[in-house]
Amino acid sequence: MRVLLSTDEIDVGVSDLAGRIQADYTGQSLTVLGVLTGSLVFLADLIRKLDLPLRVGVLQASSYRGETKTAGQLILQTAMLPDIVDRDVLLVDDIFDTGRTLATIFEQMQSHRPRSLRSAVLLWKEERTIVEYRPDYHVFRIPDKFVVGYGLDYDDQYRHLPHIAAYDEM
Ligand code: IMP
Ligand code: MG
Repeated sequence: MRVLLSTDEIDVGVSDLAGRIQADYTGQSLTVLGVLTGSLVFLADLIRKLDLPLRVGVLQASSYRGETKTAGQLILQTAMLPDIVDRDVLLVDDIFDTGRTLATIFEQMQSHRPRSLRSAVLLWKEERTIVEYRPDYHVFRIPDKFVVGYGLDYDDQYRHLPHIAAYDEM
């Protein structure tokens, strides 16, 4: 199995991100919104490194599985979404690939009238991105490889791996 990012590398990267976020939100309170299910592990690690008044919420994004996958077919479940009106909100997702998912969620969350809205992703497959939207924070840029672990799945498996591995090289 080929490890792309080790547990230690991820830990250092997430700590660095937490430092940047904390500096940017000094004196503010923050609402962190994790996009399920992929952000689960990243979310849990990131929030424990943030020394800020903090609220945590989740939303679920799923796409129709079929031959066509377009931004319009993203289904957002917001039943567990906290009230974000007038709050400083940070969306957290596992990976920015084509970018459609996060760009769509960003747009939809704007309609809930947060005071501010930014986004943070652990991984960014820059070569594959097709939208103009960019996450405000990212931890690692990775090549165009399908990866699993640290929350990321293949067919709902491997999310529990403590590192990130390239799937075809496992
Ligand atoms: P996007 O809309 O193309 O940016 O896709 C984002 C979503 O696709 C992520 O939230 C993941 O659920 C999934 N995804 C994209 N690339 C990978 C990967 O390499 N491994 C696992 N899931 C991925
Ligand atoms: Mg996902």
